[in-house]
Order: sequence, then structure tokens, then C-alpha cells
Amino acid sequence: MGRGIAQVFLRHGFAVTLQDVSGEALERGAEAILRGLDRDVEKGRLSEQARTEAGSRLKTTAELSDLSPAGLLIEAVSENFEAKASVFRALDALCPEGTIFASNTSSISITRLAATTRRAPRFVGLHFFNPVPVMKLVEVVPGLETTEQTLEDADRIAQSVGKTPVRVEDSPGFISNRLLMPMINEAAFAVLEGVAEPAGVDSVMKLGMNHPMGPLELADLIGLDVCLDIMRVLYEGFHDSKYRPCPLLEKMVNAGWRGRKSGKGFYDYANQ
Ligand code: 3HC
Repeated sequence: MGRGIAQVFLRHGFAVTLQDVSGEALERGAEAILRGLDRDVEKGRLSEQARTEAGSRLKTTAELSDLSPAGLLIEAVSENFEAKASVFRALDALCPEGTIFASNTSSISITRLAATTRRAPRFVGLHFFNPVPVMKLVEVVPGLETTEQTLEDADRIAQSVGKTPVRVEDSPGFISNRLLMPMINEAAFAVLEGVAEPAGVDSVMKLGMNHPMGPLELADLIGLDVCLDIMRVLYEGFHDSKYRPCPLLEKMVNAGWRGRKSGKGFYDYANQ
């Protein structure tokens, strides 16, 4: 999601530094962002000149220390508490006191992430949606110590990149994934139990409920590993068996089937 977030910030006039530990991921990310900006020109959302300027405002780096001049940091590390915490701890030591730290976590407690730093009042959840350049929503999530000023800054930032902020309290899965993931998980159970094939499940929700994508197509878009991680957070957070992850989802992730990004999920993307 980091590349989608970077693209919308560039499109709206911000300077963006994209950091990743993998040089290859950075290269692929930057290429995708520039392709996305080209698409904005084709669609008349950006002029040629604005696209050239936007492209020149993108920097990539493998070093966390290159992020220290930024006014806002948005973390989009994989959905694992320790992985996120280690990045936040390192950044906390590198960045000035006033820098806002935001996490794009889908479900992990903002309060718990904020507590890994010494800046809990300037720490906030900014949860974007896939595909980021298209989806309008940002969930703005306060941790226990987040100040009203930080929340107002977060709302303003979301609006300045064309998104609609919605305030949601710090609770497992916030609102979005508390509702969405059990539907995806239940769809996986329906397939496991042989109630319908993935295409059948998806057709029911698209044609019967007017969803733009079926839950299993959407799971492949989000990433099956991400969906499984979120179900685990819900299950551990609420201690309620209704959030138990579907064994089929676990099996697919164990096999390396992570959806579109790995070429295989509920559907095959080998030729795309
Ligand atoms: N990445 C970037 N852009 C994409 C894209 C992708 N993966 N998929 C589609 N788009 C763009 C297209 O390029 C097109 O842009 P354009 O204006 O430049 O032409 C635009 O989206 C519309 O695409 P299409 O005309 O091809 O297709 P659709 O009308 O079928 O829309 C869709 C595609 C917007 C993806 C639509 O199917 C949709 O809204 N699906 C549901 C998405 C959703 O529910 N997202 C939330 C996921 S949950 C989440 O992210 C939270 C996390 O915590 C898990």
C-alpha cells in the first residue's frame, strides 16, 4: 500500500521519500508510482507539467535516517507488531519531537504501537484502503495519548490528499476490518465446506448485493496473508470464536498463495 499512498501524496503536491529495506522493492515501487502518475495524466487528473514535477518530488532510500527531515511519517510495514515496532523505535531516535508518526496498520492497536515511541501524543492511525489512488476513505484512529491537535492535523492531511477522514476509536480491526474481514473469512469457510466455488461466492455478492468485487477477489487484492493477520488480531483482541481464522485461508498462506501479489490466491494470476 505504501506505493499507493506515495502516489496520492505526490499527486497532491507533497515531496515524498519512499523507504524500504529492499532495493528491488523500492525500484518496483517507484516504477509503479510513476506509471500511476502517467495514468493520472491520461485521465486528465494531472497536467504533463504537474506529472513531471510530481515525479521529481519522489525520492527512494534504503536508509531510515533519510526520513528524519520529514514532517509526517506513514508506516506501511507488513501487518506484524514486532516488525512495525522495530521501525518506529529506530525512527523515534532519528526524528525531531514534532514529527507526526502515523501507522497505516489495518488492525493493530495504535495505543500499543505509539507506546514503542516517546511521542504517543503525536502518534496516530491513518488507515488507507486498496487501491489507495481510488478509494476515498481514511480511518483516523487516536491512541490513548493522541492529542486533539494531532487528530486535527491528521484530518487535514487526509483531506489535503483528496480523502475523507472518518474518526474511529482504537479497537481491533477499527470499523473497516471488523466488518470486512469476517465476511471474507466466512466466504473462505463457504468454499472450504463446498457450498460454492470461489467464482460462485463472488457472483452472489456482486450480483445480489451490488458489491464491486466479490469477497474472495477482494481478499486476493488485499493479500491473503494480510487477511489472515487481521483475522488473528480480531481473534486475539476479542477472544471470541466467531473471529477464528478459516483453516483454508491458513493453508493457502502456508503454501505461499498470498493472492495477486504472489500470482495465486482464490484465483490464478500467472498470466497477468
Ligand atoms: N491499483 C491501482 N488502481 C486500480 C487498481 C489497483 N489495483 N484497480 C483498479 N484501479 C483503478 C483503475 O486503473 C481505474 O482508474 P482510472 O480512473 O485511471 O481508469 C479505477 O481504479 C477504476 O477501475 P476499473 O474501471 O478497472 O474498474 P472497476 O470499476 O471495476 O473498479 C475497483 C475497480 C475500484 C478496485 C472496484 O472493484 C472496487 O471498488 N473494489 C472494492 C475495493 C475495496 O473494497 N477496497 C477496500 C479493501 S479493504 C482495505 O484496503 C483495508 C485493508 O486494511 C485491508
